[in-house]
Amino acid sequence: MNETGTTIPVAAPSATSAPSAPVFPQGRGCPYQPPAAYPKLAEHGPVTRVRLYDGREIWAVTGHAEARAVLTDPRFSSDRTHPAFPAILPRFEEQRELPAVPMLGVDDPLHARQRRMFISAFGLKRINALRPQIQQIVDGLVDAMLAAGPGAELVSAYALPLPSMVICSLLGVPYADHEFFESRSRRLLLAQTAQEARAPRIDLQEYLGDLIDAKQSAPGDGLLDGLVAEQYADGRIDRDELVMMSLLLLVAGHETTANMIALGAYTLLEHPDQLAALRAEPGLMPGAVEELLRYLSIADGLVRVAVEDAEIGGHTIRAGDGVVLPASVVNRDSAAYDRPDALDVRRSARHHIAFGFGVHQCLGQNLARAELEIALTTLFARIPSLRTAVPADELILKPAGSLQGLVALPVTW
Ligand code: HEM
Repeated sequence: MNETGTTIPVAAPSATSAPSAPVFPQGRGCPYQPPAAYPKLAEHGPVTRVRLYDGREIWAVTGHAEARAVLTDPRFSSDRTHPAFPAILPRFEEQRELPAVPMLGVDDPLHARQRRMFISAFGLKRINALRPQIQQIVDGLVDAMLAAGPGAELVSAYALPLPSMVICSLLGVPYADHEFFESRSRRLLLAQTAQEARAPRIDLQEYLGDLIDAKQSAPGDGLLDGLVAEQYADGRIDRDELVMMSLLLLVAGHETTANMIALGAYTLLEHPDQLAALRAEPGLMPGAVEELLRYLSIADGLVRVAVEDAEIGGHTIRAGDGVVLPASVVNRDSAAYDRPDALDVRRSARHHIAFGFGVHQCLGQNLARAELEIALTTLFARIPSLRTAVPADELILKPAGSLQGLVALPVTW
């Protein structure tokens, strides 16, 4: 694996801060471990300082209790248009000028109004009703892999098409367009600079705008069709807001879960004792999914800006200060978990922050759990001799600051 080494890289000192704060974000060396330098952040207590690419220093909250306190405290804002909202990559420099990202990037009461539109569609009952359809898609993908194999690239043959097909059917986006929106979503999420992010974002906005226009004259039965026929038709949301909502749901709905399916499968293959326990007792799978979410923490850097002074972990965080929560460290806090660095499919990991916590806690979490449970159970049951086809050091990892995961995972059986 591309080990990053154990030293903490330090950015050039600026006039306003001490030169010793570690750089954030950093890339992983091993895809299922935090970057080598991150655990050292916690040695400075549950709240410490990190330095961004532009030299700005912000707070890093690494303690589990402190992270949950920040995520439930309205003094910490998610408003990406706030002038002091930290840009953790150059790609986010433009975020202050762009249209607000619905839900994820706004505060209550607007956040609550937007989220209410989706709560029942992503509730446990509605998602559980989708399980037979998810199973059917998974079975079809495994059939296709077995027919074409032995050997497959697991991300493109399995991990990506499943959530992509499911979110298309749920939203009412034609899956026939998947190559278009998957390639743009990936370029958007992997972009390092604002310039690189611009074209894929505009492509997606235009595509979804056209789709919404088409749905006005030819409605279907997806979630977006419902919003077009009701909230949009009676003026409760405008076209721009609806386009941005569709973009968030489409991108978050497939890229996140795809990363978790591939990385989750790889991590289980790398922990044969845990995989054997799961095979022996398939009823462990829901708990194993929670544990994988905790252990892998693929959304490894939730960001906030303080809008009032707040005391957290013995530090005064001032209004205007930036805050980041590295989930891979928070989810391995020894005050919250015994043997936090061990993958243990039998533990109770549910209080992790892999889906965030508080009002912004992931809207799609029930869907992600259902997809992960079905995808991992079926994969290992139907392909019992599954193994990776390349050495670990040939795997390409997603870069620092993006959703963490594998770019590709060649497997065989
Ligand atoms: C394993 C897969 C997933 C992971 C790890 C994940 C992670 C997260 C995290 C950490 C947040 C909170 C961000 C913050 O507080 O700043 C979040 C929010 C969100 N997620 Fe997910 N997510 C996943 C799957 C999904 C899916 C399948 C959807 C489908 C639509 C989705 C839609 C959203 C939305 C809309 C929000 C914003 C919620 C709000 O602000 O109220 N996510 N997700």
